Amino acid sequence: MTKLSVNINKVATLRNARGGGMPDVQRFAVDCELFGAQGITVHPRPDERHIRKEDVYQLKSMITTEFNIEGNPTDEFIEMITDVRPTQVTLVPDTPLQLTSNHGWNTKKYLDKLKGVVNQLHASRMRVSIFVDPDPKMVEYALKTGADRVELYTGPYAELFEKDPQAAIEMYRPAAMKARELGLGLNAGHDLNLKNLKPFIQAFPWTAEVSIGHAIICDALYHGIQETIQDYLNAIR
Ligand code: PXP
Repeated sequence: MTKLSVNINKVATLRNARGGGMPDVQRFAVDCELFGAQGITVHPRPDERHIRKEDVYQLKSMITTEFNIEGNPTDEFIEMITDVRPTQVTLVPDTPLQLTSNHGWNTKKYLDKLKGVVNQLHASRMRVSIFVDPDPKMVEYALKTGADRVELYTGPYAELFEKDPQAAIEMYRPAAMKARELGLGLNAGHDLNLKNLKPFIQAFPWTAEVSIGHAIICDALYHGIQETIQDYLNAIR
């Protein structure tokens, strides 16, 4: 069954807006697990505008489900990851000032670089996922890097879903099928929400994990985080 990993970046953004420790990011992560989340995702960025390096270290000792850390594999990032050893590392080709991830890796162009990083992370026994656009070629080359999974960037899915849900599914089918055919694990993330999540999982039930942040926090403003997590779990089921 597909696991729900809650991305808690937005909680850190809120905390950082005022300084101090409110809301408590670590407690929020633990409570998400208590309410049924099967994983916690963070995306620490070099400028620490939301999740800070210190958060990553603290979270490691508190999270009892799957800890997924996303980021661009700079030397600094790899050093932190090797220290923390989360369950999964998701490699994302974002630049330091990028507002949010908006594309996947060109796994063909960066094959050698990614191979080196995957090897290094595997040596520390972490699962590695590579963020890719919904292009079967990129999935094929992700396999050649030695990665365990791909995470399909679902931003374009969410956008098209608003106009034509079936076309949105069809846009992702070749890449999702390619991952299954190659035996690569399939993750998905970005702009998934309570409306578009269920059809995605129904079309691609072999999806191992979805990581969702923005929409969960927005929904939680109205319904609270406990009920919201249940709503997302029900959508997956
Ligand atoms: N996956 C990746 C690689 C991301 O960078 C993000 C955003 O940090 C997400 C998933 C979650 O996206 P959203 O906040 O839109 O749910």
